[in-house]
Amino acid sequence: MANLKDVAKLAGVSTATVSRVINGSEKVSSDTKRKILKAIKTLDFKPSRVAQRLRYKDGKRKLIGLIVPDIQNPFYVDVVRGVEDVTYANNFAILICNFAQNAEREKLYIELMQIESVDGLIVAPVDENDPKVINLIKSGLPVVCIDRGITSEPVDIVVVDNEQGAFNAVDYLISKGHKRIAHIAGLPNIPTSIQRLNGYKAALKKARIKFDENLVRFGDSKHVSGKNFTEELLNIPEPPTAFFTGNNLITLGALETIHSRGLKIPEEIAIIGFDDMPWSISLNPPLTAVSQPGYDIGRSSAEMLFQRIYDPNRSTVKLELKTKLIKRNSC
Ligand code: RIB
Repeated sequence: MANLKDVAKLAGVSTATVSRVINGSEKVSSDTKRKILKAIKTLDFKPSRVAQRLRYKDGKRKLIGLIVPDIQNPFYVDVVRGVEDVTYANNFAILICNFAQNAEREKLYIELMQIESVDGLIVAPVDENDPKVINLIKSGLPVVCIDRGITSEPVDIVVVDNEQGAFNAVDYLISKGHKRIAHIAGLPNIPTSIQRLNGYKAALKKARIKFDENLVRFGDSKHVSGKNFTEELLNIPEPPTAFFTGNNLITLGALETIHSRGLKIPEEIAIIGFDDMPWSISLNPPLTAVSQPGYDIGRSSAEMLFQRIYDPNRSTVKLELKTKLIKRNSC
């Protein structure tokens, strides 16, 4: 049976560094962490606390892993709360990791989840062909994908009708007389960005409005891309009269630019954002938004995971929850 010293020797580090990685310390570089995790896997090392890890009589660790792409995004806060209400009801704890939509960080956290021997994992994959999540599914660990799915492997999935939600928003802007509608999408490798863009295009097509690619920008699903691309789009020769923004943080960035330019909403510029947030109604004017049920995504994914944990052979399920267009005063 390999011990801590063997792992340290193979990884070329001190035993103290190995212990820091096992205890989840942030003070170790990603490269060193990776070497150590590789050595642990190669030697099949079971750190004493894992070997002595509290296991209940049903053999469960009573620990669920949850990996999200942006813990600072209020949408994921709702998701985490939904998961936590279900894990608490089942006397389980959650190990939460934020991979910041970074594949390397996601890889490290998935390896740590395996070392911690979680009973199941809820994850928003980096993209729909995420190799690390595919390997996890193949390993037999119960997995539920949220917000975006994996297409090449059967797996439980909880998503929303992104395309329909985007269609409803842009269709509503068109009904208000807008023809030059800009769309600031999220990261292009995230399926939700593409699905919302498709909904935007479908609404234009239904109204026989020619798609103008000069009115579309792919951001990073964060505030800064909303701010900068709104500035850019308002400066093009024929500027848009309305914006459809791809998520809550892009919306906030767009609003910052609109207000800094002193434009009146909706008289001079209209806006609808994907993601309705608690602060949407407090904005001036209150924001029209596409609400996606973050809490229900979390709750449903956790319920689905427990069904998978206790019935591994059940067939996989794809649950598509409905979005809702909340009409207020920003268009
Ligand atoms: O704000 C979170 C939403 O934006 C999620 O649906 C995520 O996919 C991003 O597009």
